[in-house]
Amino acid sequence: MDQAGRDIERAAELIFQSQRIVVFTGAGVSTESGIPDFRSPGGIWTTFEPEDFTIQRFLSSPETRIKIWTLGRAFKFQQAFPNAAHHAIVDIEKMGKLSAVITQNIDNLHQRAGNRPTLVVELHGNMQEVVCTSCRALWSWEQVEQRVLAGEGDPRCKQCGGILKPNAVFFGEPLPVHAFMKAHEKSCRCDLFVVIGSSLVVYPAAEMPRYAKSNGAKLMIINLSDTDQDYLADMSIKGSAGEVMPRIINAVEKRMKSAVESHLTSL
Ligand code: APR
Repeated sequence: MDQAGRDIERAAELIFQSQRIVVFTGAGVSTESGIPDFRSPGGIWTTFEPEDFTIQRFLSSPETRIKIWTLGRAFKFQQAFPNAAHHAIVDIEKMGKLSAVITQNIDNLHQRAGNRPTLVVELHGNMQEVVCTSCRALWSWEQVEQRVLAGEGDPRCKQCGGILKPNAVFFGEPLPVHAFMKAHEKSCRCDLFVVIGSSLVVYPAAEMPRYAKSNGAKLMIINLSDTDQDYLADMSIKGSAGEVMPRIINAVEKRMKSAVESHLTSL
């Protein structure tokens, strides 16, 4: 068996032996759904500047707001579909082993793949809703996108006239407190923390693997490239999530099947 095969088996054994797994995802879990990540070549930061996503610039610059409203179409959030990596995470939930999916993504693909929404913790909000920055009224993305497509480049709140903003967390904004607290609690209580598709460079989200490790969990990182926290990992697999994750799940299912068979023969 080659090294890749041994890594898959080792990852499967860790998942098979764990009961309270937290899966932590970044943009890399959605690239095989056609949504670019941020820091890889051709990623979002090669098309948009991070400064475009600061709350200060968004509120002060109508030009920036007009550009941001093209984002949903530019990165095809609405046309994207969950990929094999998202479905593999749903399989972990079906095994009864998933404590939470903590995601930095705003694409709603974990929920669309079938993870229970109560298990998905969106640290950076989502692009399914739009919020008024003055009265906090909520609108659906589709409602506002129709207005943008009809020519309203910088749509305002119909209730108070305030500036509308996608309900994702912009740089300079605090993370949603409830989401952060839940992510912290789940990370501290898990027995296995699996990072999939994140460079682990943006805080406070990237604190989560550290919380897990400092509370005794094993840390597994599955990523195409090196991450900022590979040195902390009990194991890491360099590869594409859509290819690696189904192989790991198949190996876990084999273990579960033979465990049942040996139990039945012992009766
Ligand atoms: N399989 C596995 N890993 C992948 C894949 C894939 N198919 N595609 C990309 N990757 C890896 C890349 O190598 C990269 O290390 O996923 C990682 C994505 O890293 P980033 O682009 O930095 O995205 P992320 O970690 O989610 O960024 C965190 O930064 O800009 C902010 O708010 C934004 O939530 C985002 C946060």
